Amino acid sequence: MLRVETILREDSPTVINVHFFFSYIMEIDVDKVPGPKSKKLLEKNKRINGGWSLPVPTVYSEGEGCYFKDVDGNVFLDFSSQIATKPLGYSHPALNKVLEKYDEAPVKLAGQDFLTEEHVDLIEELIDVSPPRLNSAFLVNSGAEAVENALKVSMDSETVSYGVSFNNAFHGRTLGALSFTNSKPVQKKGFWSFPARNIPFDKSAPEVLKKVIEKEGKEPCFVIAEVIQGEGGYNFPPEGILKGIRKITREKDTPLIFDEIQCGMGRTGEWWGFQNYDVEPDVFSSAKALQVGATVAPKESFPEDPGALSSTWGGGSLVDMALGKEIIKTIREENLLSNCKKMGEYLVKRLEELSEKHSHLLDPRGLGLMCAFDLPDKEVRDHLANHLVRKGVIVLGAGQRTIRIIPPYIVSKEEIDEAIRVIDESLDAIREELPPADSYAEHTI
Ligand SMILES: Cc1ncc(COP(=O)(O)O)c(C=O)c1O
Repeated sequence: MLRVETILREDSPTVINVHFFFSYIMEIDVDKVPGPKSKKLLEKNKRINGGWSLPVPTVYSEGEGCYFKDVDGNVFLDFSSQIATKPLGYSHPALNKVLEKYDEAPVKLAGQDFLTEEHVDLIEELIDVSPPRLNSAFLVNSGAEAVENALKVSMDSETVSYGVSFNNAFHGRTLGALSFTNSKPVQKKGFWSFPARNIPFDKSAPEVLKKVIEKEGKEPCFVIAEVIQGEGGYNFPPEGILKGIRKITREKDTPLIFDEIQCGMGRTGEWWGFQNYDVEPDVFSSAKALQVGATVAPKESFPEDPGALSSTWGGGSLVDMALGKEIIKTIREENLLSNCKKMGEYLVKRLEELSEKHSHLLDPRGLGLMCAFDLPDKEVRDHLANHLVRKGVIVLGAGQRTIRIIPPYIVSKEEIDEAIRVIDESLDAIREELPPADSYAEHTI
């Protein structure tokens, strides 16, 4: 039987962190995951699903707070927030209340052509938490589509040239977005590409951008960047590079796009990642935590001709749009930006302590609840991530050798302590099998 506990956070007037009692994750053991039902479904999926990737080795059944239970009854502490899509964790009361309203079909309409109140409400809420100049948004289905439309609104049909993105960037898998993605070769292999130039995500970026423009003899159509690189390895921008890029793009009148799909919507403790670096883009993309995709830009940047941008299902899922709006409202009402900052600092401090004990745990880092650490190489990283999942803590890899730690914004100190205990024990458990930390080759991004 599951026990449920309620924790009151000091800085929230309303809040509630309902979660399965800790002892349940302690019951999980390496040989229980995946359980028999999960195993069967995972095998079937591998046989019939065309979009095969490497899912977490368990099949979701239901969740509450930062925890979810799989179809075999194993309970996990989800420190991946389902790849940043669950800012309020599972079954948040405010979101459950929204869902009660949508208990009859249709909950999905052809949203760009048949307008609903939810559509306008979400745009209004979204631009309300965005810089005043970025006063308009276009809703689509996914992150990749939000990026596609960010590229489109930045394109100038008079001067078809090239776009610039960064080494290790990830912007999605549709062909336009993929052309500017450089995080893993497997994502691009064999697919066509738009004219793209890549620059390093390091201190040299502004200088290299200038050289690219000089060599091409014309300005790029746009520069696109993740403010903090996600999929490519949780790489934080070296001091000054975003401002340097902003300066050049202003001088050249080149639109600067920030892809906020992973780092935006409050995860870093600010609404948007770029607000931590005092740099404003001309266009930005959002998705994941927002529940739908959105391209945000000044109204005058969008095409005037009706139909130039559209999508049958864009702005069409009433439930997703109502949830997106409620998520923004709840983040505000429950002071969750402040919780992201506070809990993020605590999490990084605990990871730093662990890195003193475990020489294989390298470079603990984070901003708000966008946290990560490295392992000496990919093999050790995959081994640890696998071990953690089998011990009840869900984490995901990023880049070549990084583990990202991105709990829901409602996470408590006790839950962080629990995850740290499991990481600590797992590093102890696998250490025997590993060569000493200093015997690995130096890694660069
Ligand atoms: C920064 C970034 N951009 C774009 C995308 C693509 O989003 P989606 O998978 O919803 O198409 C992702 C997804 O991981 C992302 O992290």
